[in-house]
Amino acid sequence: MKAALLGHGTIGVGVDRIAASLPEIDIVRVLALETDDEILGRHTFHADDILNDPEIDTVIEVMGGIHPAWEFLSRAMKAGKNVVTANKAVVAAYYRELVALSLEHHVAFRCTAAVGGGIPWLVSLEREKRGDCIRKIGGIMNGTTNFILSRMARDHMAFNDALLEAQRLGYAEKDPSADIDGDDVRRKLSISASVAYDCFVDETKIPTAGIRFVTTDDLAFGTRTHSVLKLAAFSRRTEKGVSAFVSPVFIPSEELLASVPENVNLLTLTAEHSGELSFAGQGAGRYPTAKNVVLDLLDIVSGVPAFYTDHTAAAEIDNLEECYSWYFRSTSSSLLPAEIVEETSHETAVTKKLPVPDAFRYFSLLKETDPEAFIAAIL
Ligand SMILES: NC(=O)c1ccc[n+]([C@@H]2O[C@H](COP(=O)([O-])OP(=O)(O)OC[C@H]3O[C@@H](n4cnc5c(N)ncnc54)[C@H](OP(=O)(O)O)[C@@H]3O)[C@@H](O)[C@H]2O)c1
Repeated sequence: MKAALLGHGTIGVGVDRIAASLPEIDIVRVLALETDDEILGRHTFHADDILNDPEIDTVIEVMGGIHPAWEFLSRAMKAGKNVVTANKAVVAAYYRELVALSLEHHVAFRCTAAVGGGIPWLVSLEREKRGDCIRKIGGIMNGTTNFILSRMARDHMAFNDALLEAQRLGYAEKDPSADIDGDDVRRKLSISASVAYDCFVDETKIPTAGIRFVTTDDLAFGTRTHSVLKLAAFSRRTEKGVSAFVSPVFIPSEELLASVPENVNLLTLTAEHSGELSFAGQGAGRYPTAKNVVLDLLDIVSGVPAFYTDHTAAAEIDNLEECYSWYFRSTSSSLLPAEIVEETSHETAVTKKLPVPDAFRYFSLLKETDPEAFIAAIL
């Protein structure tokens, strides 16, 4: 395989170094905004040097962001090149287009590292669904937010201090918005559900709440109710389509999900024959993630071009049967209708069981007057 890297940051460097020891993979070009000794002689500032080079059969995109990643990936496929990416943002936004291009141009498209970093999650979904029907997926898909919530719970740290600690350790980016607002999990859930159920689950239709405004008082509610606060993704097949949502959630302390520590991910699928299968591990980090990119490259070398199928019809997002009690904390929680509230205390309310669409509708209402309102499902 003659491959080229688009991006030479955390993951790009890892891919380059692991591939250097593998005779099957020759990384002959590297697109990067700066040059250094490791890429001397292979470096270019111009994507055209890669996309127009007929000798390069595979493009590895590890730049991040949606643009120009999408333009580079689509051009590469149209030029007959295989593509591998770790970039969940571009895959969630252009999943259908990427699958269609790969089929049309008979090239590989793989993105195992885009969900779960170093965990063999998407490839396991694909393997599982070949002989079984996956009914449900979900879990903790973001290590940064799990780290923040773990530190807040364990060390009674304020959110901002826990976030700074996550940034100091390299778990959180300088701009942590995608993690703490739940967008990163929403993208991963969209890709996972699309692969698991053989359809297209549009990320823009997935109700999502994050932990940007979580407080130690919110965590204290968990302590009082013997539960642990996590940011989690939920999805299952329904009669009409697919349920999918992302939300903070209070999980009973004795459940496996509640005990996931620090920056670990725990991804779970439930299939008809297999029952529940969980995968835990490093959802990020240079070498775990780069290893999954390299395994995708090796799969392509051995003739396995993809883990999706050509079924990408849009699924209806149907959350009506997903019912939970909800915890709301807001200066305007008195705006919640009395008939849905089970108990209230200073600025907080716990509701009766409500379907996800209703809970998110009330949450939007509260945020109109209190942008720092907080919501969590109670399992
Ligand atoms: N880090 C992880 O643990 C992890 C885990 C799973 C998935 N991923 C995904 O992997 C991808 C790469 O992540 P990363 O952590 O390696 O990011 P990173 O450290 O920021 O590396 C990206 C590199 O690409 C460069 N770049 C950006 N736009 C470019 C362009 N137009 N042309 C050339 N180079 C460009 C960046 O240069 P500048 O720095 O100069 O902008 C940077 O060197 C992302 O999509 C991320 O979501 C990362």
